[in-house]
Amino acid sequence: MNNPDIDIAKLQDGLQGRNPRKILRAALENFSSIAISFSGAEDVVLIDMALKIDRNIQVFTLDTGRLHPETYHFLEEVRKHYQIELDVLTPDRQILDEMVKRKGLFSFYVDGHQECCGIRKVEPLRRKLATLDAWITGQRRDQSLDTRQELPEVQQDTAFSTPDHALIKFNPLAGWSSAQVWDYIEAWQAPYNALHRQGYVSIGCEPCTRAVLPNQHERAGRWWWEDANKKECGLHAGNVPEQGDATG
Ligand code: ADX
Ligand code: SF4
Repeated sequence: MNNPDIDIAKLQDGLQGRNPRKILRAALENFSSIAISFSGAEDVVLIDMALKIDRNIQVFTLDTGRLHPETYHFLEEVRKHYQIELDVLTPDRQILDEMVKRKGLFSFYVDGHQECCGIRKVEPLRRKLATLDAWITGQRRDQSLDTRQELPEVQQDTAFSTPDHALIKFNPLAGWSSAQVWDYIEAWQAPYNALHRQGYVSIGCEPCTRAVLPNQHERAGRWWWEDANKKECGLHAGNVPEQGDATG
């Protein structure tokens, strides 16, 4: 069933603070054109839970072309472990070639990550989301005091909705801690990225991610040369009011 007229505020009232399984079940009951956006440990938890509710759940990942070799192996391990059809999305070749020709391969260290993320992540994501009524992410509130503290379990996606197409975003793990994610992975022996064994916590592209020291915040290793309140790449632009239009 697709449910474009669903009352999101009412749904959020009912789902606030609920178990991720309940949130996933509500998401899958209300939307058939829905997919999990997969890149890290949180998303494996979601895939594991969702497959127990609906074997046909769609899963996609954004291959920026700049991921660590370990991440590519992890994506493949998850695909095989769960026997899912993983939709691997790539950037528009023409737009990407033009940017690289103009600015080289490391422009993000010079003038920020927004343009590169806009081309390698946001544009392919926008294409995918245009085919869906809702998507599911592994964001957690405690991932960022600057940008994710107010994250609801379900929301209208202000960054990717258009006047003709309302898009809903589910964040079933909004209230979970990192410890809960890792307890789940251990309990179910779920696959994880080998980089976690080398001190990496939040993992994105190779040139924009580094390991963190003990007790450093988990997102300190992402875009470490930029301000904390800029550490959203456009995928979750709605978390930063002035970025709400997902321009990159
Ligand atoms: S990011 O915006 O800073 O890169 P983060 O790494 O915290 O995001 O991940 C939050 C959620 O965004 C993930 O749980 C996943 O749902 C989605 N996400 C992030 N990166 C990707 C990616 N490369 N492909 C698909 N989904 C992603
Ligand atoms: Fe480009 Fe870095 Fe963004 Fe990856 S995280 S798309 S390499 S700026």
